[in-house]
Amino acid sequence: MAKRRTPPIRRIAISTGGGDAPGLNAVIRGVVMTASHHGWQCVGIRDSYDGLLQRLPGGGLVPLGPERVQGITQLGGTILGTTNAGDPFRYPVQRPGGGIVLRDRSAELLRAFRRERIDALVAIGGDGSLSIAYGLARKGLRVVGVPKTIDNDLAHTVMTFGFDTAVAFATECIERLHTTAASHRRIIVVEVMGRYAGWIALNSGVSADAHAILIPEIPYEIGKVAAALRAREASGHSYSIVVVAEGARPKGGRRTVIEQRAGGGERLGGIGERVAKELASLTGKETRHVVLGHLLRGGAPSTFDRLIALRFGAAAVRALAEGRSGVMVALDPPTVRYVPLARVAKRIRRVPPNSDTVRTARGLGIAFGD
Ligand code: F6P
Repeated sequence: MAKRRTPPIRRIAISTGGGDAPGLNAVIRGVVMTASHHGWQCVGIRDSYDGLLQRLPGGGLVPLGPERVQGITQLGGTILGTTNAGDPFRYPVQRPGGGIVLRDRSAELLRAFRRERIDALVAIGGDGSLSIAYGLARKGLRVVGVPKTIDNDLAHTVMTFGFDTAVAFATECIERLHTTAASHRRIIVVEVMGRYAGWIALNSGVSADAHAILIPEIPYEIGKVAAALRAREASGHSYSIVVVAEGARPKGGRRTVIEQRAGGGERLGGIGERVAKELASLTGKETRHVVLGHLLRGGAPSTFDRLIALRFGAAAVRALAEGRSGVMVALDPPTVRYVPLARVAKRIRRVPPNSDTVRTARGLGIAFGD
């Protein structure tokens, strides 16, 4: 674990990158309040790193003192703004003749950190943002990462903040669909976010008594899903709820992609509609689909997310005060520990197909279509 003798810290920056997640503002508060006890100044970089790479109206840095972070623990979103198209190592730049070219602007960013007299960075983000943080640490910046994402797909932390809130809301939505599906004797297919991992679909589906759950880690056969729903019908149940993770795919088939992003990566979505159409034709039942999408990212963080977010923020400052850099704070109950960013970058954590929750679901009679 990187621990070295370095010049004293006077001023630190905070950035929030990638998709927003409930709890971002609580981390910011945890960092700012803890840093103030060390006598450090804090600034927030607006829109991930764009505040240092572009001229933004109103300035690119937000001064963050204890006053500014009062009352933000329960606020959804991020008071700093964010983007998932601002990777300084692969920054999308408009070409004069049209089209987009990706440029490495990391050296420029590091110069901006020095110009602004920023001694260290707390980078709050998912796997993309933490890979960027790792890249900046390798170039000499003092960096501590904080694991954020509703998808819960980061390696080496038991949980990311944002996940608990997203699962709680998905569970509530699925519960509500039971009564309307039952009244109309329909199949309702609910698509939830989660990227290449099925954590949100699995945990909310099990908690809300779904009848089938389709996740990327267990490719499905639609015929088997339909057979499970027909068997339900035959035993006197007139409706069914199917939860589908956006990254789910049929055995031997592909994920459903809406768009390829300019900076690389893809935007997922559409699998819920596809599964609904196929189930309608295979079962002959009236079928509807619902996409929960960005609703899962909004709203106030749950108590659990507030607490781990505040703890992560405080731990990030402690890490810097102890001379650590190039690490991510990680939840390892009952404590928070530090993991080298090198072990986290470009790695995702997926649902083990034989995990206890999957086995519990099977025990409850929930179909995975495998
Ligand atoms: O990583 C968080 C997440 O919400 C994923 O679940 C989803 O695939 C993606 O971000 C959506 O991103 P965007 O904000 O670009 O729609």
